[in-house]
Amino acid sequence: MATRTQSRTPKSTNKDRSSGSAGSEAGRKSNSSNSEKSAFSFGQSNTGAIVGAALAGAAIGFAANYGRKFLMQGMEAAAGDWDQILAAEHDAALAIFDRMLATDETQSFKRKMLLMKLTHALDKHAHQEEMVVYPALREANEAVDADHLEGEHGYIKTFIYELNEMGPASPTWLEKVREFRALVSRHAHMEEEQVFPRFKEGLTEEQNARVTNLVNRDGFWMA
Ligand SMILES: [Fe+2]
Ligand SMILES: [Fe+2]
Repeated sequence: MATRTQSRTPKSTNKDRSSGSAGSEAGRKSNSSNSEKSAFSFGQSNTGAIVGAALAGAAIGFAANYGRKFLMQGMEAAAGDWDQILAAEHDAALAIFDRMLATDETQSFKRKMLLMKLTHALDKHAHQEEMVVYPALREANEAVDADHLEGEHGYIKTFIYELNEMGPASPTWLEKVREFRALVSRHAHMEEEQVFPRFKEGLTEEQNARVTNLVNRDGFWMA
């Protein structure tokens, strides 16, 4: 509120200036400097207390978010190596698909919520793979697989886009979800049974620990 009132002040003083009044010009200068001072001085009147409270609120929110991230990623880190973490995420995503497939067209809200949950889970998962695992695969001369898998991530996003566009009450919603699940399941199997084991076999213990650490770190920010 204070800022809004102050931002109006120079307008009226501009009018004064066009009238050529020296007194008004002096007033403009003085108003302008007051306005600048009060807009950025947290110590004036109640502004400091308000800003302090806002900052405290933000700090609590920030801490709560950190706590949540630690909890989420801590649970994942307990799952073991990077490939076990990613496999657990595949299972979690497939379980969300199964809950989606158990809905009917009258459950629009539940469908929307589940799609949001799935979108977040797949987003975080894809980020960890695209920022850590696939680049590491390319470094290990597995670029063909990395590019193929990353290309499929694009189609996963396309399914999410299409489901959002068609809406939860669409008569073809379940059919689309079933198709989508089949792609994710096939993709996960390729990673878990072919690409990841072959890549892991070539890693030293130290390199393996490094990939796990990087996947955990990326997952923490995305959680
Ligand atoms: Fe993937
Ligand atoms: Fe994956």
